[in-house]
Amino acid sequence: MSEEWKQEIEKRRTFAIISHPDAGKTTLTEKLLLYGGAIHLAGSIKSRKTQRHAVSDWMEIEKQRGISVTSSVLQFDYGGCRINILDTPGHQDFSEDTYRTLMAVDSAVMVLDAAKGVEAQTKKLFRVCSERHIPIFTFVNKLDRFGKAPIDLMDELESVLGIRSYPMNWPVGSDGRYRGVYHRQTRQVELFEADESHGQKERASALYALDDAALKERLEPDVWQSLQDDITLLDEAGESFDEERIACGALTPMFFGSAMTNFGVRNFLEEYLRLAPPPAPRESSDGRIEPADDRFSAFVFKIQANMNPAHRDRLAFIRIVSGRFERNMSVWHSQSDKTVKLSQPQQFLAQDRQIIDTAYPGDIVGLFDSGIFGIGDTLTDVGRKIRFADFPVFPPEKFARVQAKDTMKRKQFTKGVEQLTQEGAIQLFQQPGAGSESYIVGTVGTLQFEVLQYRLQSEYNTEVLLNMQPFEVARWLAFEDGREVTPAALRGADRGMFVHDRDGRPVLLVNNEWALGWITENNPGLLLYPVPPDKDKV
Ligand code: G4P
Repeated sequence: MSEEWKQEIEKRRTFAIISHPDAGKTTLTEKLLLYGGAIHLAGSIKSRKTQRHAVSDWMEIEKQRGISVTSSVLQFDYGGCRINILDTPGHQDFSEDTYRTLMAVDSAVMVLDAAKGVEAQTKKLFRVCSERHIPIFTFVNKLDRFGKAPIDLMDELESVLGIRSYPMNWPVGSDGRYRGVYHRQTRQVELFEADESHGQKERASALYALDDAALKERLEPDVWQSLQDDITLLDEAGESFDEERIACGALTPMFFGSAMTNFGVRNFLEEYLRLAPPPAPRESSDGRIEPADDRFSAFVFKIQANMNPAHRDRLAFIRIVSGRFERNMSVWHSQSDKTVKLSQPQQFLAQDRQIIDTAYPGDIVGLFDSGIFGIGDTLTDVGRKIRFADFPVFPPEKFARVQAKDTMKRKQFTKGVEQLTQEGAIQLFQQPGAGSESYIVGTVGTLQFEVLQYRLQSEYNTEVLLNMQPFEVARWLAFEDGREVTPAALRGADRGMFVHDRDGRPVLLVNNEWALGWITENNPGLLLYPVPPDKDKV
């Protein structure tokens, strides 16, 4: 591997921004693009509610609900780094898509609303990141408004999430009187100047040494005094800066700022790039694969169809783990055990796509997919058959019977349902003997049903009837002695609970854990699995 190639890897930073809805993830993403020079005026992705509708999002539903339901990938260069930001949907519902996206990153930025602290969705997303032991950076947002005291937020991180924090900066002035930040590494205070652009342009600032008389002059006496007190307290009683603990996700560097008013954004970006890791190795069936391994390998973490309504296309997003990606290269594909040619690879800036020729570990590439790719598939150099470690599996918890309203539209209906299943948005089940006009659909959250209804309508011109089922648990079945599992062979379960998955495996749908216990008791020798026993992914 050439020196140049190694440098390409070292300069990459691939991360996701996670937050509870409304904490400011979109605003911060946009401001990172602004400071990174990728856009010149903030407000072009999504800003004021009124403007949101003018922006053509990938999916109409995003506009309607004002939420982002697909993950986008943004790439830009800053300070010698190549940055890949994977956007994660921020809606309330548990989403597999988000979790899979987090499999493709090397670090995460957790955005907190200063007034709200750690919220429900923050907790879930944090857990996924901390299970992977990736570094997590905290950006406390909306400092321009009244919020919780910084010390209380640090306590909250520890008591709710179990992570210690190291403030990289400290707010100067609080409760709506936010003036700037104190940078702990350089021991300088940055005061922000007035802004006429409503946050659309970069914000001017001035730097002062902590003991500079001019600083004291510019600050109200109580603000100046409490800054001095806070710094003493932090230095004496706070955590020490420990890069090793940051690298394994045991300590989170914490930044205070305001994405909307551009307070602390540039410093956050620069410090983040300094501390965040370059592409990490991944575990495979052939041991650990290092990014510097010059043989190509990648995995599919997301599939998205019909991103552009004008072209009925389907993209498989891959994360490159090792080697170098080249347009038109032929690779081995794990799922089909065949060689496939990767033509027309795409990279993204918001809604703009461009064809790329080369990409390196850490990069995300969108591949046109004729339907062969599945989530978790591995792509490698031809002749080298490895597979990356399993993706997390999410057992479905919500179920509905789904059928086309108009039976004449059965064909489109089946096609649409199959498509969404391949994307991993839903899981399909069928009762024995039922035709392709009716399915039982399983999901991990109720929002997916809305997405299903909406997408079948808009992309396949098919109205569907949804009938929610009372089930909450799915179990794949087998008998210890290898006997065939049929409805008749099961005691204590009625026929309506018995279904097959897409591959014909028997599955039992039950209302709750208590009912599950009843079935187990009544059927000695019956094995029940929360995910298909013979498959490493759903
Ligand atoms: P999300 O992606 O995490 O869901 O949050 P998003 O960036 O869309 O921000 C949610 C709301 O919080 C937006 O207000 C946004 O303007 C506001 N916001 C983001 N950062 C800051 C900040 O630093 N300070 C303050 N005061 N507000 C911030 P909105 O009312 O939903 O929309 P808009 O009309 O303001 O765009």
